[in-house]
Amino acid sequence: MYKIVVKGGLSPAESAEIMSCCPGATIVSGTDEEIASSLPDTEVVWGSLDPAQLAQAEKLLLMQVVTAGVDHLLSPELLASHARLCTTSGMHGATIAEHVFSLVLAFARGLPTLFGQQQLKVWQHYRPTLLQGQVMGIVGFGSIGQAIGQRALAFGLQVIGLRRNPSPSPSATMVWGEDRLDELLPLVDHLVLAVPLTPATTNLLSQERLKLLKPSAYLYNIARGAVVDEDALAAALAQGELAGAGLDVFATEPLPPDSPLWSLNNAIITPHTAGYLADYRRQALAIFLDNLRRLKQGLPLANEVDKGAGY
Ligand code: GLV
Repeated sequence: MYKIVVKGGLSPAESAEIMSCCPGATIVSGTDEEIASSLPDTEVVWGSLDPAQLAQAEKLLLMQVVTAGVDHLLSPELLASHARLCTTSGMHGATIAEHVFSLVLAFARGLPTLFGQQQLKVWQHYRPTLLQGQVMGIVGFGSIGQAIGQRALAFGLQVIGLRRNPSPSPSATMVWGEDRLDELLPLVDHLVLAVPLTPATTNLLSQERLKLLKPSAYLYNIARGAVVDEDALAAALAQGELAGAGLDVFATEPLPPDSPLWSLNNAIITPHTAGYLADYRRQALAIFLDNLRRLKQGLPLANEVDKGAGY
């Protein structure tokens, strides 16, 4: 039966669940030093091995990571490995969509302004613009984009999803091909970035493309910082060429203290937190156990990454 390495600690309850899914398995967890000697005959990893560890794990069949994105993991060693790579994709849609809507509503209802007034005990009305009838563009219309689109439709927004292989969706008014980004940008009141980071999406929202957005538009990035030209974005926000931005991800994380983004009054900065959940680890374990069963039975794995495509 499999030798399973668990990165990042393991509780007795988690260990018992893995053993009942995979009786006879050997579970190894602990420090990297403790794990090192087990790597040559490890078949399964829950968590992620670094490139040097991957090179040691010659018998690895499955690396089940605990994130949705794998951009940071796709090393030459991983591409060369025969191991299959699976994500926790699918568990982030609702939580990220709620995060995005907390930002959309905060901007629409003037909460940053009203919080400022509260500090000063100022009683002054705010005149919101309704979301109803506005247009939201969602770049990347996978499970996360669709969860956002579903909520946007309920608020009366028109939703245009953009994806590589477009097909009609109940979570959008329209779904367009990814080649129509330049056509989409001038139309939107709210633009959400929900694409995986790949060579094709690096700097997708370039300085030139940022200029295609209306000055009244809001941007939300819950994808990866490198999808946007961050310097051009900071300048556009400072100069009022964009109404505001809700940013959860950054080119460098943690966001460095000298980043101009911190002090913009039309940016809401959150620390790469949109995808978290109080019971994240429990949900991630359920996905791992499901894939462990599938691996044993020779069934297709859930959330398997196409390493060539990068997601
Ligand atoms: C977080 O950003 C993730 O990819 O899970």
